[in-house]
Amino acid sequence: MSDTEWIDAAGVDDVPADDVIGLVVNGLDIAFYKVEDTIYATDNICTHGHGRLCDGFLEGYEIECPLHQGMFDVRTGAPTCAPATEAIRSYPVKIEAGRVFVSLGF
Ligand code: FES
Repeated sequence: MSDTEWIDAAGVDDVPADDVIGLVVNGLDIAFYKVEDTIYATDNICTHGHGRLCDGFLEGYEIECPLHQGMFDVRTGAPTCAPATEAIRSYPVKIEAGRVFVSLGF
């Protein structure tokens, strides 16, 4: 039923614990976060401007944009602190055999 295309993006150990990295996956700039051994993926570009979230500060499940300190919940992409008001896109992630697979939805 599902035509989900899973893309092998990184090794599980490539994503540092309680931190964020940015990777280009199929030409898209994606941020990967590891919080309590779970990996999440979102767009890496802030919806407020052009801040790269991988250069920001991850605190718990919230990523703080390095440009104006807007914040997003990495689990959903929802904005949690102004001036960010528009959600970033979040992407499904699965782990298999030590690899991180992400579905970009197309
Ligand atoms: S560019 Fe991210 S809060 Fe302004």
